[in-house]
Amino acid sequence: MSRHVEAPIRRQSAPDIRARKGGDPIVCLTAYTAPVAEILDEHCDVLLVGDSVGMVVHGMPNTVGVTLEMMIMHGQAVMRGAKRALVVVDMPFGSYEASAEQAFANATRILKETGAQAVKVEAGVYVGATIAYLVQRGIPVMGHVGLRPQAVNVDGKFRAKGRTKEERAQVLAEARAADEAGAFAIVVEGVDETLAPEITAAVKAPTIGIGASAQCDGQILVTDDLLGLFDWTPKFVRRYANLKAEIAKAAANYAADVRARRFPAAAETYALGGGKARRPRVAGGDERG
Ligand code: KIV
Repeated sequence: MSRHVEAPIRRQSAPDIRARKGGDPIVCLTAYTAPVAEILDEHCDVLLVGDSVGMVVHGMPNTVGVTLEMMIMHGQAVMRGAKRALVVVDMPFGSYEASAEQAFANATRILKETGAQAVKVEAGVYVGATIAYLVQRGIPVMGHVGLRPQAVNVDGKFRAKGRTKEERAQVLAEARAADEAGAFAIVVEGVDETLAPEITAAVKAPTIGIGASAQCDGQILVTDDLLGLFDWTPKFVRRYANLKAEIAKAAANYAADVRARRFPAAAETYALGGGKARRPRVAGGDERG
């Protein structure tokens, strides 16, 4: 008798992603929760637990207030949902800039406590030495150059980069520093569309564009933007759904049913006394609460 054994799902690794330079486009999205990670997993090569979680989930004005504990908690949730994609967790502002040793201590907490396979750092040129320190000690690192949201207080606002010759040279230098330090991929955010191909050609690591251009090795978007959960999104976002309207419609219908006493109906309540108990219509069939 032969027993059919399912092959285990093989998760993408940092070297797998690095090897995609110049090949099929690398598909990346952000994820912050287990159920959404589970939905996105089969469609994506990389799921990024971005520090954008502070803005899109926690309502913060920018990413500066995001803590290591928040990133670890959301990283754990995403790892419960994702089985196939490489999961990368953002190192939040203040968790890696002081020294390579600080970065190593916090990156090891992220890898050990979440089970994720890599971290991302916003890579000013000065972070190159830190990336090398982490990679040499076993921590795959994704870089992030161009518009660096954690630097919003220095820049004054979220502003696309590459208007002047100096700014272009600066972003190119950031990408080269991350590349030479051993980053396995580099996010290029909010740059002039002619700068992204220049960076892509200059580095060995695959580039992942967001508001950059189609001339990158892959693309990433903030999932909540793509799903249409906000009225305002940056120019570079393409909306593939309008969930804000769908959620509002569902909430309005629910409110109307409750106010008119149409909800719950008999089939949505427990009849435990005497007669045959009706099976409650609850996801998974469990009785809850
Ligand atoms: O935090 C984030 O979501 C990111 C992506 C926008 C690249 O860094």
